[in-house]
Amino acid sequence: MIGKTGQLGGDLIRNNPGHDIFAPSRDVLDIGNHERVETIIADQRPAAVINTAAFHNVPLCETEPLSAFQINCVAVGNLARVCGRMGILFVTFSTDYVFGGERRTPYREDDCPEPLQMYGISRAAGEFAALAAAPRHSVVIRTCGLYGRSGAGSKGGNFVDKRLTDAKTCTRLEMGCDQVVSPTSTDDLSKAVWQLLSHPGLTPGIYHLVNEGECSWYQFTKAIYELSGLQVEVAPVDRGGMSGEMRRPLYSVLANTRARGMGITLPHWRDGLMQYLGAP
Ligand SMILES: NC(=O)c1ccc[n+]([C@@H]2O[C@H](COP(=O)([O-])OP(=O)(O)OC[C@H]3O[C@@H](n4cnc5c(N)ncnc54)[C@H](OP(=O)(O)O)[C@@H]3O)[C@@H](O)[C@H]2O)c1
Repeated sequence: MIGKTGQLGGDLIRNNPGHDIFAPSRDVLDIGNHERVETIIADQRPAAVINTAAFHNVPLCETEPLSAFQINCVAVGNLARVCGRMGILFVTFSTDYVFGGERRTPYREDDCPEPLQMYGISRAAGEFAALAAAPRHSVVIRTCGLYGRSGAGSKGGNFVDKRLTDAKTCTRLEMGCDQVVSPTSTDDLSKAVWQLLSHPGLTPGIYHLVNEGECSWYQFTKAIYELSGLQVEVAPVDRGGMSGEMRRPLYSVLANTRARGMGITLPHWRDGLMQYLGAP
């Protein structure tokens, strides 16, 4: 498994139902190093390779598009190619940002990607790269708005932890009400991933796995303070999905259509958040 120090990687290990997991750190296996990827996979010959690594600092992808493509697309395609050739299941993750956010009903796995910024473009390209290189061995799992015990190091801490830190110094906060998402706990996600991977009906292709329900980041922030009993006034702000000149999808809620059809469901986002906060 790649990405053990990350939010999802950490919870995949914590919630491992009993698999023997080899999880090298980035200094041992950087997915951008294609030869090393091939050598390590050939040495280990695992039943599956799970890649949770990504270049997913969204603003940085705008200024460093080549690095974004190298990790999110070319490296993912290489991992898939190596796995496909050796007959190994390849599992990799993608994002709600492959969608454009024009609609108001949850996106299904077979909806057409229409990314708005370099990050989403590199991730959609990565999906195609995996599925083209190893169509019979690749599973792509799209998810959204992750928070987990390990915090997203690449983003300077996860959204929930940052709001809890804000509460130490702020009594009033502005939060975007323009983007509607499916915030997802990596504890819930990792359990669903293990269920999916051990399901006898697993077939290659794209899956969505997110906590149920939808909310704006403003509504999510209000819930964080409510459930933690913290007194912070949260004011909604509508930036029309813009971060400077970069566009973000206004609506990127995902429907877990395929997993649900296999009997795999995740809790509502509010329940995931309560569990994370240890709220009664
Ligand atoms: N976070 C979100 O809100 C969100 C939303 C939608 C989809 N996703 C996707 O879900 C997946 C898991 O996200 P996450 O939040 O768990 O990520 P994360 O916390 O940032 O963890 C990423 C992990 O990948 C490792 N990594 C990064 N670049 C690498 C490289 N070139 N080679 C090898 N390892 C590398 C990191 O190692 P270091 O510790 O050494 O950096 C870290 O262990 C990613 O594909 C992500 O894009 C995340």
